[in-house]
Amino acid sequence: MTDIRADRVFRRATVLGAGVMGRAIAAHLVNGGLDVLLLDVAATEPIPAEAQRGLTAGDRAVRDRLAREAIAQLARTRPAPLFAPRLAGRIEPGNLEDDLPRIAQCDWVIEAVVERLDVKRALWARIDALAAPRPVYSTNTSGISIAALAEGRSPEFQRRFLATHFFNPPRYMHLLELVPCPRTDLEVLEAITAFAERRLGKGVILAKDRPNFIANRIGAYGVMRGVQLMQEQGLTVEAVDALTGPLIGRPKTATFRTCDLVGLDIVVHVARNICEAAPNDPEIDVFAPAPVLERMVAEHRLGDKTSAGFYRKIAGQGGESVIEALDLTTFTYRPKKKERFPEIDALRAKDDLGERLNGLFDAKGAGAAYAWAIVRDCLRYAATVAAEVADDVASIDRAMRWGYGWDLGPFELWERLGLARVAARMEQEGRPAPTWVLEHIRKGAPSFYLRDESGALRTLAVSGSGTHALPDRPGVLTLRPASTGVRWIEGNSGASLWDLGHGALLLEFHSKLNTLGGDAAAMAGRAVTRAEAEFAALVVGNEGTHFSAGANLALLMMAAVEGEFDEIDLMVRQFQQMTMGLRRCARPVVVAPFSLTLGGGTEVTLHGDSVVAAAELYMGLVEVGVGLIPAGGGTKELYVRMLERLGPGADPKEAARLAFETIGMARVSGCAQEARELGLLREGDSIVMSRDQLLERAKTAALELAARGYVPPPPRTAIPVGGAQTWALLEIGLHNLLAARRITEHDRTIGRKLARILSGGDLPGGETASEQQLLDLEREAFLSLCGERKTLERVQHMLKTGKPLRN
Ligand code: NAI
Repeated sequence: MTDIRADRVFRRATVLGAGVMGRAIAAHLVNGGLDVLLLDVAATEPIPAEAQRGLTAGDRAVRDRLAREAIAQLARTRPAPLFAPRLAGRIEPGNLEDDLPRIAQCDWVIEAVVERLDVKRALWARIDALAAPRPVYSTNTSGISIAALAEGRSPEFQRRFLATHFFNPPRYMHLLELVPCPRTDLEVLEAITAFAERRLGKGVILAKDRPNFIANRIGAYGVMRGVQLMQEQGLTVEAVDALTGPLIGRPKTATFRTCDLVGLDIVVHVARNICEAAPNDPEIDVFAPAPVLERMVAEHRLGDKTSAGFYRKIAGQGGESVIEALDLTTFTYRPKKKERFPEIDALRAKDDLGERLNGLFDAKGAGAAYAWAIVRDCLRYAATVAAEVADDVASIDRAMRWGYGWDLGPFELWERLGLARVAARMEQEGRPAPTWVLEHIRKGAPSFYLRDESGALRTLAVSGSGTHALPDRPGVLTLRPASTGVRWIEGNSGASLWDLGHGALLLEFHSKLNTLGGDAAAMAGRAVTRAEAEFAALVVGNEGTHFSAGANLALLMMAAVEGEFDEIDLMVRQFQQMTMGLRRCARPVVVAPFSLTLGGGTEVTLHGDSVVAAAELYMGLVEVGVGLIPAGGGTKELYVRMLERLGPGADPKEAARLAFETIGMARVSGCAQEARELGLLREGDSIVMSRDQLLERAKTAALELAARGYVPPPPRTAIPVGGAQTWALLEIGLHNLLAARRITEHDRTIGRKLARILSGGDLPGGETASEQQLLDLEREAFLSLCGERKTLERVQHMLKTGKPLRN
C-alpha cells in the first residue's frame, strides 16, 4: 500500500521535458490550479545574446534557457494553452541537471521527454534514486510499453508509476488515457483519475498496456486504411476529406487536414510503432506506411509545422491566400478542388448522424462506396482489437469521441446501423465481423449497450459472453444515454424537459448549434410552469457541442426581408418573456453554460439566479457583430450587473460605460474566469473544470438553493439610470471613435441605439427606470435596427459565412 489516497491533494507538479507536450501539459496543470516546475535539458553554452549580457555557461539563466523559452512560447501559441497569459508566472523554469532533487517537494511528476525508451528509462532511473518523499510518477508516452519503462525500478517507484497519455493540445483535447504498469497501486490510479477529471476537466479512460493504447491504435488504423482505400479507388485527398468529416460524424478536419495539424511525422511514427510492437495484429499490413506517406515525410511535407503537407496555403495573384492540395500521383500542389458526389449531397442535409449513416449504407456511387468502406473497416478493426486494448466497448467509444472528436464511437455507430445488418453486409463483402460480435448477435443481443433490471447501463463483454458494468464515472450525469433516475418528460424541435431526479427539472436546448427560436422559448415557458408546480428547482443546460450560439438569425432574417416587423416584435417579446420568466420563476434557476454561449445564450445565462459554468466558456453579447443589440434582456441585465459590481451609490454613467464597452466591442471571454472579469459571470458563480460534471454540479447547486429556502428576486422597479449625462458621455465616445476611424458609420448608428437603452431613454439625469422600461427600449432599438439595410447585410453575411461583417 502507498500513502496515496484517492482524494489526495495535488498542489505542485514537476514536468520533465519542455517540448510541444511538456510545456502544454504544464500550462494545463496551471489552468487546473497547480504550481509547476518545468525542467528540460541544461543548456551548456551561452548563446551570443547571453554572452553579450556577460552570462557564462555556469549561470542559471543559461542553463534553464530551454524551459524558460518554452514558457515564453506559451503566450504565442494558438490555440492558447493557458486560460490567461498571466498564469505563465506559475510555471517555474529549471533544468534536469540542477533541479531534479526538487521533485521531493512535488505531488506529481509527469515526464514528457523524447519518445525513446532508453532516454525515458535513464531519466526515471535517476529519479527513482532520489530520496523520499515520493510523488506520483507518470510518463506521457504515446506508445512505449509502460511495463518496459517500469522494469528495473524499485517497488516503491513502480507502485506510484503509470502512463498519463494526454492528447495534443492538452487544454482542449478531452481524452486522457491512463495505463497502469503491472504493480501500480489502485489508490494511485484512483487519485489521478479523480484529479484529472475534477481539476483538469479530462475524460479519463483506463487503457491496457498495448502499443499506442486505445485511441491512437484505432485512429492510426483509420488514417492508414483511408490511404489504402483512397489509392485503390483512385480518389483525391480532397475527396477523402469530403467523405470522412461531418458526413460520418467526424471533425471537419476529416482525415488529411487532421494529419496536417498533428504532423505527418507523428502519424507515421505511430503507425510504425504498431508494426514493430504489435507484429501479430491481424491487420498489420495496413500499418506499413504507404510509399506516398514515406515520401512526404522524407520531403518534409509534414503539415502545418513545415507549412506544407496534404494541403498548403500560398499567396494568390491578388494577395489573397489560396489553398492547394497535394496531388499524390504527380506529387505537385494544385488548387484545392471541391469534390462532389451526387449520392452524398442529399445526405449532408440531414442533421441526424444516424440518418446520414443509414442513407450512406443504402446509397450507390463512388463517394458512398468509399465512405461506407472506411466506416465498415474502422468498426471491424475496433471490434477486432477490442479485447486486446480495453475491458469494455464503452472505453473504446469514449476514447474515439474524446480523443479524435468522433460524434459517436465505433460501437455506438454500429448500433445506429443495426448490429446484425452491419455484420451481414460485412460477411457479404468478404470482411466478416469478429467472432465475439457474431456470437452476441446469434444470442439475440440488439445492442452493445443494455439496461439491467435496475435500469443501469451495461455493455456487452468484448470477449466471451455476458455483459460488463459500464465504467463508473462519479459526479457525471448524462442525458444520452440517460443516467439512472433521469427521465425525458416532453419536448419540441428546439428544447426538451427532463426530470433529473431529487426534484430537479432540466430545460435542455437541442437545435442545431442550439440556436434559440420560438420553440425553445415556448419550452422555457413550460419549464417555468412545471418547475413551479412539480419540482423544487430548475436547471438550464445541455450536452451539445455548444451551450447556445444565440438567437435563430435565419428566422429573423426571413421576417426582416419580408418587412414583417410585427413578426419581429413578437419574436423579441417571446425572447424577453423567456428570459424574464426564468428570472421570475418561483423556483431557483441555475444555468450551466459551456463552450460557445453567445448572444441569446448569454442572455439566458444572465437571467439565472446562479451559474455553474464550464471553465471552457466563450461567452459574450455579440449582437453588434450582426448589426443588432441584445434585446432579450441582455443589455438591461449587463447594465444592472455593472451597477451591482460598482457597489452602493454607483455612478450610473460608469456602469453604462462598462456595459457599453463590453456589448459595443462584442467582447467574448476566452475562458470562464475571463467571463467573470468581463462581468458576465458574478463572483458567486461557480466554475467547473469538467464539462462532464457540469449538469450534476448545476443540479446540486439548484437543489441547494431550494433547500436554503429560495425566495425569487423582487421586480426591479427603480434602476438608477444616468439619462442625458450618460447619453452625452457615450455619444462623445462614439464621435471620437468614428473620427479616429476605429468604427464605421453603421457601428455608430448601433452604438447610439445602445447608448439610448443604457442611459434610460429620454430621461433627464439622476432618475430611475423599471426593468420593463429598459426591456421596451431594447425592443424598440432592435426593431429599428432590423429596418437598416446594413444590419441585414451583416446578418446575411453571418448566416452565409459564420463570420461578422464590418460595414
Ligand atoms: P518534443 O520533441 O517537442 O519534446 C521533447 C523534449 O524532450 C524536448 O524538450 C527535449 O529537449 C527533451 N529531450 C530531448 N532529449 C532528451 C534527453 N536525452 N533527456 C531528457 N530530455 C530530452 O516532443 P513532444 O511532442 O513534446 O513529445 C514528448 C512526449 O510526448 C513523447 O513521448 C511523445 O511520444 C509524447 N506525446 C506527443 C504527442 C504529440 O502530439 N506531440 C501527443 C501525446 C504524447
